[in-house]
Amino acid sequence: MLTLIKNGLVYQAGQLQKMDVLLQDDHFAAVGVALAELSDADRVIDAAGKLVTPGFVDVHVHYRQPGFTQKETIKTGSLAAAHGGFTTVGAMPNLDPVPDTPEKMEQMQALNQKDGVVHILQYAAITKGRRGKEVNDYAALKAAGAFAISDDGNGIQSAAVMYQAMQHAAAANLPLAEHIEDESLLFNGVINAGPKAQELNLPGMLDLSESSQLARDLILAQRTKVHYHACHISTKESVALIRWAKQQGIRVTCEATPHHLLLTADDILADDGNYKMNPPLRTRADQAALIAALADGTIDLIATDHAPHAADEKAGGFCHAAFGITGSETAFSLLYTKLVKTGQLTLPRLLELLTSAPAKAFSLPTAGTIQPGEPADLAIFDLQQPSQIRESAYYSKGKNNPFTGEQIYGITEMTFVSGRLVYQKED
Ligand code: DOR
Ligand code: ZN
Ligand code: ZN
Repeated sequence: MLTLIKNGLVYQAGQLQKMDVLLQDDHFAAVGVALAELSDADRVIDAAGKLVTPGFVDVHVHYRQPGFTQKETIKTGSLAAAHGGFTTVGAMPNLDPVPDTPEKMEQMQALNQKDGVVHILQYAAITKGRRGKEVNDYAALKAAGAFAISDDGNGIQSAAVMYQAMQHAAAANLPLAEHIEDESLLFNGVINAGPKAQELNLPGMLDLSESSQLARDLILAQRTKVHYHACHISTKESVALIRWAKQQGIRVTCEATPHHLLLTADDILADDGNYKMNPPLRTRADQAALIAALADGTIDLIATDHAPHAADEKAGGFCHAAFGITGSETAFSLLYTKLVKTGQLTLPRLLELLTSAPAKAFSLPTAGTIQPGEPADLAIFDLQQPSQIRESAYYSKGKNNPFTGEQIYGITEMTFVSGRLVYQKED
């Protein structure tokens, strides 16, 4: 079947241009101007005035299956991704069982394949059971389908374990994605240490927990030559360290989340668990450093850290709620509304951070681009009509999102994965 998407504002090779895109069955057949006149399409979609972009790539999501399906399943998580325009995701391994052997990795791959409506790349764990003690067999995990390794949810506390993990990951040529957190500097905190923690009378977690461990990791990465990916960096010190590491030629990439780019601790107006995540919301100075680092390339990509939890798990305020908020369904519209429409980031750069940049960082040759012959992964957005984020519109089982109710631009109209329509806005 031939599908023609005509007259859209197409993001292609770093530029936005009015073009047509032709999909044939599961792959792109052509992209260019005036394809409409040549084609004999079975289906024509008029995208005039709409944004047409390669499907987004989110290298950091939590799908909770197996083990925690009250929070999310592969089906609901991937439907949420499709709703947000994401067509490729990297799923974290804080699951039960943890994918830490080739057998478990293969089972995970089969589940993702069976239930996912988007392309799901699976992280394997860095250490056995994610306990931070014994490193896994990365070559075997890679052979079983792992695209990268992470113990996300926890940092690797021991420098010796991290050093060994990096040596093995470098040998297997697998990216190591680290949740950077020195637990000895947390002091049972639930919110960033600072004035807001004092105002709400909550225990604070030090920002140094992130930056001091990042400094350690960068020095270890320099020696081991691993591809080290820093997850969800959130402090100005982390930004400075990554900038330094890149100048030294250390093989490092990093991500920032929409919530750390768009919110600070000042936005927490009450003891509300929907503002609790790890790392926590930081200061305005941290936020400003992150936004500047998006523009100058220090931050490589945006990833959501989509972390759904059940309503009862997010109840009871900061002291009782689980860490984490959802992100897949609101990421683009929020970033477009709050960073692009306000002039802090250009639309092409935002699109790069969500498409070709993550694909490049994780060496995913067919993702994040509209290329003839490659899988037809694409999303269409309406940039004109304002809309409200409604909880009833979420496909995720997790309703834990502090942006619910906000007025946004840039809602998703359609998402295609390998030529299949996996999301369509209801009229
Ligand atoms: O807020 C978070 N939630 N941070 C993490 O590192 C883990 C995640 C989760 O799994 O819920
Ligand atoms: Zn994390
Ligand atoms: Zn995470």
